Amino acid sequence: MLNTKQKTLRRFWYAIMPMEHLADGPKPFTLLGEKIVLFLDGEGKPAALEDRCCHRTAKLSTGWCKDGNIVCGYHGWEYDRTGKLVMVPQFPERQAVPNARTRGFHAQERYGQVWVALDDPIADIPDVPEDVDAGFRRIPQFYEHWKTSPFRLMENSFDAAHIAFVHRNTFGDINDPVPEQYKIEETAEGFTASVRQEVVNPAHAQKITGEPAGKTMRNMVNKWYVPFYRRLDIEYPSGLRHIIFNCATPIDDGNMQLTQILFRNDTEEDCPAADLVAWDEAIVREDKDMLECTDPEVVLDLKMRTELHMVTDRPGMIMRKRLLQVFHDNGEEEYVEGAAPVLAAE
Ligand code: FES
Ligand SMILES: [Fe+2]
Repeated sequence: MLNTKQKTLRRFWYAIMPMEHLADGPKPFTLLGEKIVLFLDGEGKPAALEDRCCHRTAKLSTGWCKDGNIVCGYHGWEYDRTGKLVMVPQFPERQAVPNARTRGFHAQERYGQVWVALDDPIADIPDVPEDVDAGFRRIPQFYEHWKTSPFRLMENSFDAAHIAFVHRNTFGDINDPVPEQYKIEETAEGFTASVRQEVVNPAHAQKITGEPAGKTMRNMVNKWYVPFYRRLDIEYPSGLRHIIFNCATPIDDGNMQLTQILFRNDTEEDCPAADLVAWDEAIVREDKDMLECTDPEVVLDLKMRTELHMVTDRPGMIMRKRLLQVFHDNGEEEYVEGAAPVLAAE
């Protein structure tokens, strides 16, 4: 699958950037290979347009906002939040503005982020009920560029076998390579993978987990939503919940944007947000280094046999099957470029 060729992927919402990045003016982003500009309209709501002025093609993201419109920095032409050209400052008062526009995209705010869908969306942004639950706080953890594809991040998030190796210096145990199996239930939006796992709670993690150091059990409910969202709900025996929500946003065929937001049912006094970011950061770094050395192109069609699989890869295999089905349901085939089958030894 090449992300930029699969039209169906244009019909999902993606987290683009934290809302506060737009406070001081328009910002550019590349989504599925499309250069877009984001800005705030007169009501403070996010808007997304093609980052190209219809006068001399200048990037609108180098301009500024005025009364809820975006102004091109080259000759001052103004566009409203839908992309319609509304003002040409060089024209005399009685001369009508040409009937023209730059392309507009769907945009909205959710969980403190700007979300964009390039074409009419076929699914909502996954609901995180804790966002409106007064017992929980929301902590933005990561907003960063990774040189890999969103599918690789998604399947890694459900790959129990990498932990003993990739995370051998944090929480993995390289002498215990056979992981606990997830119980997987497919859902309308993706699947739910659950596991109850024995882990070691290190002394420095006591504030994070609310538990004493030593061996402990924890329940993990890890949900995948088509195409590139994930919600990991970790429940510690202390009653503390550590809920990670990710959106892996496709920038182009080899790059993605990781957005990670944490929800916790404790307070800043119980455990400072900075400690929670630092705790998850060590783990995320290890995944990033490994994923950036994989091939960003993932072939969904298992019949092509471009990769081998093992039992612990079942979540990733279900993802391939479901995503391919969504493409087919939307009248699209998978686009494959250059991927070759795995060689036989003899
Ligand atoms: S290029 Fe935008 S106003 Fe001229
Ligand atoms: Fe990992």
